[in-house]
Amino acid sequence: MAPVMQELPLMCLMLLLLCRDPGVGAQLDQNFKLQQPQDKVLVTAGEMLTLNCTMSRLTPPGPVRWLKGLGSGNKTVYDQAGDSYPSVTRAVVGSDTDFTIHIRNIQPEDMGTYYCVKFARRVTGVLEVLQRGSGTEVSVQAKPSPPLVSGPEQRAMPGQSVPFTCTTGGFLPKEIGVKWFKNKDPMTAQPPQVTKEPVKSYNVSSTVMVTLQKDDVRSQLICEVQHSTLPAPLRGTYQLSRTLRVPPSVEVRAEPSPVEVNKTVTFTCHMKEFYPANMSVSWLENGIEIKVEKVSRPSELPRGLFELRRQVEVQATEEKNGSTITCMVVHNAQAPVNYSAVLWISNPAQGGLSKGSQMDTGASLLSSLGLLWVCILLEKGLLGGLLFFLFKRMKRRAQELLPYPAPSQSLPPRAGSQGLATASTVM
Ligand SMILES: *[C@@H]1O[C@H](CO)[C@@H](O)[C@H](O)[C@H]1NC(C)=O
Ligand SMILES: *[C@@H]1O[C@H](CO)[C@@H](O)[C@H](O)[C@H]1NC(C)=O
Ligand SMILES: *[C@@H]1O[C@H](CO)[C@@H](O)[C@H](O)[C@H]1NC(C)=O
Ligand SMILES: *[C@@H]1O[C@H](CO)[C@@H](O)[C@H](O)[C@H]1NC(C)=O
Ligand SMILES: *[C@@H]1O[C@H](CO)[C@@H](O)[C@H](O)[C@H]1NC(C)=O
Ligand SMILES: *[C@@H]1O[C@H](CO)[C@@H](O)[C@H](O)[C@H]1NC(C)=O
Repeated sequence: MAPVMQELPLMCLMLLLLCRDPGVGAQLDQNFKLQQPQDKVLVTAGEMLTLNCTMSRLTPPGPVRWLKGLGSGNKTVYDQAGDSYPSVTRAVVGSDTDFTIHIRNIQPEDMGTYYCVKFARRVTGVLEVLQRGSGTEVSVQAKPSPPLVSGPEQRAMPGQSVPFTCTTGGFLPKEIGVKWFKNKDPMTAQPPQVTKEPVKSYNVSSTVMVTLQKDDVRSQLICEVQHSTLPAPLRGTYQLSRTLRVPPSVEVRAEPSPVEVNKTVTFTCHMKEFYPANMSVSWLENGIEIKVEKVSRPSELPRGLFELRRQVEVQATEEKNGSTITCMVVHNAQAPVNYSAVLWISNPAQGGLSKGSQMDTGASLLSSLGLLWVCILLEKGLLGGLLFFLFKRMKRRAQELLPYPAPSQSLPPRAGSQGLATASTVM
């Protein structure tokens, strides 16, 4: 038993030497076959690529290499006897016949044809190609990045048409589909612009025009990207509230109006349907700021817009008759807009509406007709025109009723301008 144990390693060594002997090997393996079975491989960027190459038997001395490309410009990706790419590993480490390699984290720039090459080392030390595979054509497909939707830099108002752009990149092949939806409704967009990137992938940009609406606060734009690499479309979204600015419609009213002397009159500034919520309001009496203690906050309406009511109480002392009370509104860092109403004190001496008082004040005439409070609609001045027209008509009516035609200058200038003042609102 002992002699066998002693001889066994020796026999093994001899056997090994026999097989390893370059002379013998060269003779034995003259007719080895290099097999590179893959013609074409498609791999998704980021994944691992396996390139197969096997030798039918042991080969003569000289390294096996994997080259990307042939001729000038070839790159050695793997070298059995030298440096390899850090992303390359052998499938069967240390094998003398299986030279299959793995390349981790494949990128579009790794596209190309890869060759498994067996070199022979001549006695002089020079390497020459002994055999090479027929090449594996590697194509890379890449998923598009998550789509990003961008909108205008500044907020826009309802009725304005603004562009939104959806971009995604890094995909391969070039074919891609981009669809737009507003909430659930498909939209028509300009044809997408596909551009080639330096790293052999593509980017796409698609633009859609959206006409904003007042009730778009809760609306969402969706950009849907379809690509052969994707099991389900990718979506990018954009909340239209990020872009929308709905200016308030503002109404200022005084209650009661006219007020009895020394009583309190409440001015209410009602800002309706605006977005976003940031709103600053100040009160002015003849251009001088009035301090207001308690301030209310905007409240949200069902459609996502806001409304705000601000009030100020003014003591109707006699000298304040005809004062202009202004509600100065600053919405979302826009220029301030003034909305005003006039404090009117009823004249107890005249006690209601005599024929004389009809002529005296346009204000009491207007109030007697039901326009108890004076509101100022700034936007168009339409109401102003209407009021002016009404005022003129009423004036004429009053003149007709009077026995003597009233000279126009008999109108107190303040009363005369009131109809206009309420109308000439300042934007
Ligand atoms: C490639 O080589 C690996 C490792 O040897 C093997 O598992 C796989 O089956 C081979 N594939 C092909 C197509 O030859
Ligand atoms: C690879 O390129 C080198 C020069 O860069 C060239 O000498 C060599 O012959 C090329 N190898 C093959 C297999 O084409
Ligand atoms: C292409 O898309 C990629 C990924 O989305 C991005 O990093 C790159 O900046 C884009 N290139 C251009 C020119 O837009
Ligand atoms: C209103 O108040 C002022 C000052 O308190 C007083 O002088 C005046 O008589 C009051 N007028 C009326 C009509 O009550
Ligand atoms: C609004 O009123 C303030 C105070 O009277 C004034 O300074 C400002 O110029 C007014 N703004 C406009 C747009 O009229
Ligand atoms: C307030 O002014 C209006 C218009 O000038 C006038 O008709 C009214 O009598 C005035 N009220 C008082 C209390 O003076």
